Amino acid sequence: MFAIRQISPIAKRAFSTSASSNAAKVAVLGAAGGIGQPLSLLLKQSSLISHLSLYDIVNAPGVAADLSHINTDSKVTGHVPQNEGLKAALTGCDIVVIPAGVPRKPGMTRDDLFNTNASIVRDLATACAEHCPKAHVLVIANPVNSTVPIVAEVFQKAGKFDPKRLFGVTTLDVVRASRFVSEVKKIPTEEAKITVIGGHSGVTIVPLLSQSGHSFTEEEVKALTHRIQFGGDEVVKAKDGAGSATLSMAFAGARFTNSLLEATVAGKKGIVEPTFVKSDVFAKEGVEFFATNVELGAQGVEKIHPVGNVNEYEQGLINAAIPELKGNITKGKAFINKA
Ligand code: NAD
Ligand code: LMR
Repeated sequence: MFAIRQISPIAKRAFSTSASSNAAKVAVLGAAGGIGQPLSLLLKQSSLISHLSLYDIVNAPGVAADLSHINTDSKVTGHVPQNEGLKAALTGCDIVVIPAGVPRKPGMTRDDLFNTNASIVRDLATACAEHCPKAHVLVIANPVNSTVPIVAEVFQKAGKFDPKRLFGVTTLDVVRASRFVSEVKKIPTEEAKITVIGGHSGVTIVPLLSQSGHSFTEEEVKALTHRIQFGGDEVVKAKDGAGSATLSMAFAGARFTNSLLEATVAGKKGIVEPTFVKSDVFAKEGVEFFATNVELGAQGVEKIHPVGNVNEYEQGLINAAIPELKGNITKGKAFINKA
């Protein structure tokens, strides 16, 4: 597979008639968890994946054995830390998806997860930089605004950082936005395409309803904006201590992974997804990572879309997001660079 990629990454794959011969090895780290299991189930349905490699500190072999009976063509393997399981899971990977980490309980912010999840993500990123340095890394583990900079710093220190290949998965915010708007406007979800920019926590989630092509009353804008920004809290509260969004996140994570596979494996053009990436959009304001719509290509990030026109209300949301984002990013970087 890698020999083919070195010759002509898109062309060879685009004209392939057999997905399984050119398809990708995809690892899910945290595969036995609330997100990991349904995400792996959804990815087992992709013909663009030849090998689904499932890693967790517990139970991954069982999840893999179960999924391996599904009659799609990908191979499924399960790995735990024993016997260099992480190395085996990652070697040869094209895409690594990371939902490993603890979820919130009621009353917690995503930043409250930092102390536990920062080191989990750091250690997994270190292994990725060693065993699959060219892989596209998709970070789901919270707090995304900090865990993405953590992965970037780890790769940077290893001399392997390629900003085109690191993505914070913010897809759930646009999935929610689409659903919530469709409910309010009584329109099909496919007509509710909402751009959401910024980051992935509270006020850093900035929906741009004015760009949707639909009109809203002031009350609708305020209520929808709040619901999109705090949709995660709704689920945390309803699950009442049993975790946060898992099924909708698996749906969103599979959507983003499949879009990246379409761009990198199938060579499709014009695929656009929102994602939190290293970005110049607010670099002048000192924000190194920012989510906007991003066109995906053979190498990952192809083109970062600008924010576009925003109204006064949305500009206020952006202004509120920037200092929070800066703090989250600095915190993630400092975690790796501390003495
Ligand atoms: P979970 O507790 O159900 O599953 C997490 C899994 O990670 C567990 O199976 C656990 O064993 C595993 N794990 C822990 N440490 C590990 C390590 N070092 N290596 C490999 N696996 C490890 O949690 P969940 O509900 O699946 O949520 C996972 C993370 O995703 C949380 O941090 C949550 O906040 C985040 N999340 C993000 C989004 C988003 O939009 N980006 C949405 C929902 C949840
Ligand atoms: C979400 O948006 O559902 C996730 O980030 C999980 C959470 O903690 O809310």
